[in-house]
Amino acid sequence: MNVVLIGFSGTGKSTVGELLAKRLGWEFVDTDERVELAAGKPIHRIFAENGQAAFRTLEREAVEEALQGSSRVVSVGGGAVVDPASRKRMRDGNLVLLLDAEAATLYRRLATAVVDEPRPMLLDPDPLARITALKANRDPLYREVAHSIVSTEGLDPEGVVVRIVSSISLALDGQPMMKMGVE
Ligand code: S3P
Repeated sequence: MNVVLIGFSGTGKSTVGELLAKRLGWEFVDTDERVELAAGKPIHRIFAENGQAAFRTLEREAVEEALQGSSRVVSVGGGAVVDPASRKRMRDGNLVLLLDAEAATLYRRLATAVVDEPRPMLLDPDPLARITALKANRDPLYREVAHSIVSTEGLDPEGVVVRIVSSISLALDGQPMMKMGVE
């Protein structure tokens, strides 16, 4: 089994994923990093030079490769759920957790992030409106794939990890996933 972290940009998937993997003694895989390695360039250049469809193909391959292992925490890009094959693959024998937050919270986090790369999907004169619309569009897919939803509202990444670890131990104890202690 792997734990897959899904959710919109700014929900903290990569930071939380890395911390969670350390806590569990598991391997951490970030599909955005794998895509950049495979393409030999940053994501914003893949979008600019090869287009979104090419990026999604690389992302599907990265998701497939990441999930071939086990005892991994896998953070996937915010748009990975738009691909039906990736959605199916993520749920296949893995625990999928949706990290969630309000659009305004995501906007604030993304606007204040210092070292972050530009996100091509969010390039817009009105980024908050773009985040709100794209998130609303994707929310049904996030919710279709996720076994459980973890609100990150008001929590730092450590706090999110604590919340996830308690829900994972419940899942490993054989509790139905929908009844885990996360919203
Ligand atoms: C994307 C989100 C990004 C990255 C790419 C596309 C999206 O990942 O995969 O820029 O479609 O929402 P993060 O969720 O890590 O920002």
